[in-house]
Amino acid sequence: MTSPTVTKLLLFGATGDLSQRMLLPSLFNLHADGLLAPGLRIIGTARSEHDDAEFREMVSASLARFLPGERAKAFDIEKFLHRVSYRTLDVTQPEHFAELAATVDAGPDAGVAIFLSTAPSLFEATIQGLVGAGLAGPNVRIGLEKPLGHDLASSMAINDAVAAAFPEARTFRIDHYLGKETVQNLIALRFANAMFEPLWNARGIDHVHITIAETVGLEGRGDFYDGAGALRDMVQNHMLQLLSLVAMEPPAHFDGTSVRDEKVKVLRSLRPIERATAQANSVIGQYTQGSALGQPAASYVADLERPSDTETFVALKAHIDNWRWQGAPFYLRTGKRLPVRKSEIFIQFKPVPHSMFADAGVGAGAALCPNKLVISLQPEENIRLLVMAKQPGLDREGLRLREVALDLSLTDAFAGVRRRIAYERLLIDLIEGQPTLFVRRDEVEAQWAWVDAIRDGWENNHMKPRPYTAGSWGPSAGIGLAERDGVTWHE
Ligand code: BG6
Repeated sequence: MTSPTVTKLLLFGATGDLSQRMLLPSLFNLHADGLLAPGLRIIGTARSEHDDAEFREMVSASLARFLPGERAKAFDIEKFLHRVSYRTLDVTQPEHFAELAATVDAGPDAGVAIFLSTAPSLFEATIQGLVGAGLAGPNVRIGLEKPLGHDLASSMAINDAVAAAFPEARTFRIDHYLGKETVQNLIALRFANAMFEPLWNARGIDHVHITIAETVGLEGRGDFYDGAGALRDMVQNHMLQLLSLVAMEPPAHFDGTSVRDEKVKVLRSLRPIERATAQANSVIGQYTQGSALGQPAASYVADLERPSDTETFVALKAHIDNWRWQGAPFYLRTGKRLPVRKSEIFIQFKPVPHSMFADAGVGAGAALCPNKLVISLQPEENIRLLVMAKQPGLDREGLRLREVALDLSLTDAFAGVRRRIAYERLLIDLIEGQPTLFVRRDEVEAQWAWVDAIRDGWENNHMKPRPYTAGSWGPSAGIGLAERDGVTWHE
């Protein structure tokens, strides 16, 4: 059954940071490129009292602030603002939902997309309000922004509340990393090229690193972040999604069922890191006073203005217990106030089975480095394959070899093509009902189950975050986690 075209997009939490910074600029971009149906109306809601004119002013100020100057000027913002209106809505007031429903006027032939960018504590009341006002019918689909809970139990409670009104096919859980062009490019690299697959397993690959390093600190999100920490904020979602894309079996189709079936199998094959193994396989840290991009930076507790044991850095050694990956560890690392902002997947292949150059007796010149594939997701978009090559020269004592990079800069290859905000992709997919880049309930729950066991391991081993200087690569134990295996983090 095809669902009716979406003519109303309801944005809950419309005055919040995510809406102003990302969602409304993304919607404007889609509008400016002619990708929104002419009749699509955007209705913002939040608790604060505003009329349409005030809200439009707020939107206009956000566009000016968060869109690159030339983009905001080049298009007619007024036309976009005509699509936008506002309803004050307190989720505890059923009559507010009734008023909203009257504005939406969604007959059975008019599709409605809802984006909840509110605190998850409001999800349940919001869903009840939507049901009560007749805004959860088969023509309505719902997008949910993270965090979806803080552990498996709370995540299941949210998922149950949503499922009572919206079946899985109409529920779109957001992980904004899946909206990133470069993350989708990982899927293209693996499955649109034949050359990688034969080596893409523990026989061909020695180990994998996934790094998401940030230079920012708390950014005014202390209350939320301190209750979450790096494991729940970054590993539970973005890092495990990256891991599952790197590790999954080739899906038969690029669709929501095939891709997500393969991802969830990986997530369920993750070897638990728990009480007995937490100390050997995880390191946590918290930043102390140091620097950020050359400027002095305060410690986490100074940023937070209270003592805390929350981790702002985590490094993990993960194993995927299946045929493809048995014996090839995945090292994961993420943190705030690290020296650079970068997200990267680094794959180290196995060395050649036998080096004929080793017998040449020429020492260092003959040392072979195993091949490496470095997939940079941000800030640069590029793919580098490091291969051994002969150094120019007469080599009378045997070939001299050196590692050189086969560089594919996607920034250059696709120069002139505007890179879209991840939310542009996700919003258009929500509006059009394409679920592939959204996270299915079984994935989220497998992610939580793995993360909960790690937290339980920390608690039972009384593990506290180790201090690291802001602007460094985390506590030295994080480096040791890989180095004990003879592995160096790629920096
Ligand atoms: C969010 C986290 O999900 O992702 C933030 O809550 C983090 O703490 C952000 O800064 C990172 O996203 P990006 O797109 O900047 O890498």
